[in-house]
Amino acid sequence: MTKGELLYEGKAKMVYETDDPNKLLVYFKDDATAGNGEKKGTIQDKGIINNKISTFFFKLLKTHGIESHFIEQVSDREMLVKMLKMLSLEVVVRNVAAGGLARRLALEEGTILKIPVIEYTYKNDDLGDPMLNRYHIMALDIARVHELDEIEHIAFTVNTVLKNFLRAKNVDLIDFKLEFGRDERDKIVLADEISPDNCRFWDMTTKEKLDKDRFRLDMGGVEEAYKELLTRLIA
Ligand code: ADP
Ligand code: TMP
Repeated sequence: MTKGELLYEGKAKMVYETDDPNKLLVYFKDDATAGNGEKKGTIQDKGIINNKISTFFFKLLKTHGIESHFIEQVSDREMLVKMLKMLSLEVVVRNVAAGGLARRLALEEGTILKIPVIEYTYKNDDLGDPMLNRYHIMALDIARVHELDEIEHIAFTVNTVLKNFLRAKNVDLIDFKLEFGRDERDKIVLADEISPDNCRFWDMTTKEKLDKDRFRLDMGGVEEAYKELLTRLIA
């Protein structure tokens, strides 16, 4: 596999063509942003850790029958993936109130939700990723009803698998964001990454944050938290 042209540079990753038109090389950067790019910084070795953690989770999900775009980890910072036509959608699953939900509904952070909640946002930086419901998504032709059903099924299954796995590592899965795309046969496939950048992980006993909230909230100990999560996963 040879690395081709840079197709896209995002806030956290760079996406390259390869010699196979159906495969992309994703390069994980140390760049970190928060608040739709208003806060910018770097988290040392984040790219290496997130590539490892995402690889770990995509492999774990595969053992539970959940397919993703993941093909293989090819270097410290690079992952080979299936090229997909991405949906302009962010799919958030929440088990516990935190962040945006806690603010929006004036819930105390840490309030356990009676059932897991799914939320959608329009992946559009210019509009600040506004919230959407299923009707908006269908009205804007972002996805069709059977695709939304499939997305919800995958998102809730990911939640169950990760929550159960993490519980054994004394980590609580608070919430997370997923992205999906369509493959060459228009099948919905899980994509992007699953890492402390797009999930909230709390130590079950101390409630210590092991994710990007430490960067968002200027709490310090960011690199240490990412490393701690990786260490627990592979222990
Ligand atoms: P952002 O675009 O939000 O700044 P990143 O820096 O993480 O995000 O850039 C990675 C980009 O690659 C994202 O836009 C994401 O939607 C896209 N992407 C993720 N997986 C795939 C895939 N399998 N095929 C095509 N694009 C993908
Ligand atoms: P929120 O509470 O800020 O809405 O975030 C919910 C989850 O989604 C949290 O785990 C962080 C993740 N997330 C992203 O990955 N990208 C984003 O742009 C936002 C707003 C949240």
